[in-house]
Amino acid sequence: MSEGKQSGMTRRDFAKASAAAAASLAVLSSGRAYAANNKLRAGLLGCGGRGTGAATQFMLGNDNVELVAMADLFPDRLEASRARIGEAKDERVVNQFKVKDEMCFTGFDAYKKILDTDIDVLIEGTLPYSRPKHLTSAVEAGKHIFTEKPAAVDPAGIRQVIAAAEKAKEKNLCLVAGTQRRHQLNYQETIKKLHAGAIGDIKAMRVYWCGGLPFSHERKPDWSELEYRIRNWYAYCWVCGDSIVEQHVHNLDIACWVLQANPVKVFASGGRAWKTDDPIYGDMYDHFSCDYEFPNNVHVTSLCRHWGKADGGVFEEAFGTNGVSKCNDMMDSPPEKMVDPYIQEHTDLGNAIRGVDPYINEGVQVAHSTMVAIMGRMSAYTGKALTWDEALNSELSIVPEEWDFSLPYPVDPVPRPGV
Ligand SMILES: NC(=O)c1ccc[n+]([C@@H]2O[C@H](COP(=O)([O-])OP(=O)(O)OC[C@H]3O[C@@H](n4cnc5c(N)ncnc54)[C@H](O)[C@@H]3O)[C@@H](O)[C@H]2O)c1
Repeated sequence: MSEGKQSGMTRRDFAKASAAAAASLAVLSSGRAYAANNKLRAGLLGCGGRGTGAATQFMLGNDNVELVAMADLFPDRLEASRARIGEAKDERVVNQFKVKDEMCFTGFDAYKKILDTDIDVLIEGTLPYSRPKHLTSAVEAGKHIFTEKPAAVDPAGIRQVIAAAEKAKEKNLCLVAGTQRRHQLNYQETIKKLHAGAIGDIKAMRVYWCGGLPFSHERKPDWSELEYRIRNWYAYCWVCGDSIVEQHVHNLDIACWVLQANPVKVFASGGRAWKTDDPIYGDMYDHFSCDYEFPNNVHVTSLCRHWGKADGGVFEEAFGTNGVSKCNDMMDSPPEKMVDPYIQEHTDLGNAIRGVDPYINEGVQVAHSTMVAIMGRMSAYTGKALTWDEALNSELSIVPEEWDFSLPYPVDPVPRPGV
């Protein structure tokens, strides 16, 4: 197996009313036209925990859709996911889950096979190392996309995802990313108020993702090195981008959303305090602390770590000239109006594809937020301050060109700043 390298009547209410009244068609440049009553056919690529959840939530969040295809590198992951979705009790899932044997694909080229089918929407739930390739191919194939975060693991991958997102826009293909806070009502309403000056001028922020030690898997005797890298993925920088990229991107994305900008510079530190030399922990750090400088000398303190027996905390906080906000604490709507954001993001995608809501494309947004995390990692690994332009234009490319189970994939030493 080898494979080379936007109010009273809200904008949304208005759009829905217009769409219903006119029974209008959203004509898409992929050559298809979707009436509100046309079925949307989706395929899942990456049948792990999140992919299985996302595919289920796509069905829970939309009527008149079907999940018709599944693909994964490993047959056991695909079968487990198929069985799990098949056990769902919710009628929307039971009635809309239609995956036949001939629409199941495995191997490194499974993405090509699922993209060759007549699906309208690709749900991309694989791992960060493979996302740029999969997103690029999905846009080439004319598919709408839901993609998990982060967008990539290195600047080369980020530029590829930005190019794919721009191409998707040209082709009128919708793209929603798994930075689900963007679809979470308490964040949406609070950040709208922050932008309107609810706490005055924002002078600083802090964003935290501090949790316990993450999962890790022992290597099984029959696993090749590459299989082990991919199954024990939250241990290797080239597979997942390290924890700042893989996990902390959610909080950094909020900073960019609140400040409506990307940072101009970062100065960071990090290391390994809790992870031992056990090869199960691969080559990643277990803590990062970053000082991000945003335009107008606004500084964002970012902390992310995986430590046992330590205090935790996952939140974002903005400090303004007239107050402080947790970025999700000023919702006016009644709590019962808030839909699970993991479902809402799929409803938002479905509605945009059908033209019920305006066109949506979060590709550049998620690529930029991921780049913020990558530049923090680059600064911590090297011990050097780094500007946004230096980081985004860097030639750093860490994903192996060839994915082949017969090749060796030696683990890099844990980075030592200055070495
Ligand atoms: N938005 C969120 O809150 C959230 C939560 C959890 C995970 N995630 C993201 O979802 C992604 C998947 O995480 P997970 O926990 O489901 O991991 P997982 O290991 O359970 O699933 C990943 C799946 O991708 C498959 N895969 C790997 N490389 C592949 C390739 N080249 N082609 C096809 N399939 C491939 C694996 O076999 C596996 O089944 C990660 O990027 C993670 O950051 C997001």
